Amino acid sequence: MEDNDPVMAGTADVCTLSEAPLRVLIYLSTAGAQENAQADTALALAHEVQAGNRRKGLTGLLLGNGNSYMQVLEGSPEAVGQMFATVNRDPRHRALDVVLDQPATERTFPDTAMLGLDLDASPLDRRAAIEALIPAGADRDVREKLLAFSVFD
Ligand SMILES: Cc1cc2nc3c(=O)[nH]c(=O)nc-3n(C[C@H](O)[C@H](O)[C@H](O)COP(=O)(O)O)c2cc1C
Repeated sequence: MEDNDPVMAGTADVCTLSEAPLRVLIYLSTAGAQENAQADTALALAHEVQAGNRRKGLTGLLLGNGNSYMQVLEGSPEAVGQMFATVNRDPRHRALDVVLDQPATERTFPDTAMLGLDLDASPLDRRAAIEALIPAGADRDVREKLLAFSVFD
């Protein structure tokens, strides 16, 4: 087989199974910093940020319950760090608290530049809704932090 065989060309790309290095950061925040401000829905925020995240190679999940947000940001360490700094300055939420920040070998949400989900009132429904989004084989710490959001105020 020739080196320039069209089937073999690009094999190196296809065989690149994991991108390195990856960072996953999860934070919790309180919505609506300004007086009388209404919390943006997680869905609306996710739509707003998807195009930018795609350009930056960021993926993740944004959960909201009307009072709080939990966001998973995953991507290169630089992109995640820069985005967290940007998001940290956003007056639409406050009191950001990082609950997980670690290197990762794989993304938990590889196909979503930001998936937004607004949770119902019932903690049981919330748990089921979050569970449904977490892929089998997801990192245990990531799963645990996300499920914990089901009982947050
Ligand atoms: C809860 C929350 C999550 C956000 N997530 C992202 C995000 O994943 N990506 C993004 O580009 N902006 C996100 N933003 C918006 C940023 O804070 C900021 O408004 C946006 O990046 C535009 O910034 P710029 O005007 O400085 O370009 C989020 C905002 C909030 C309140």
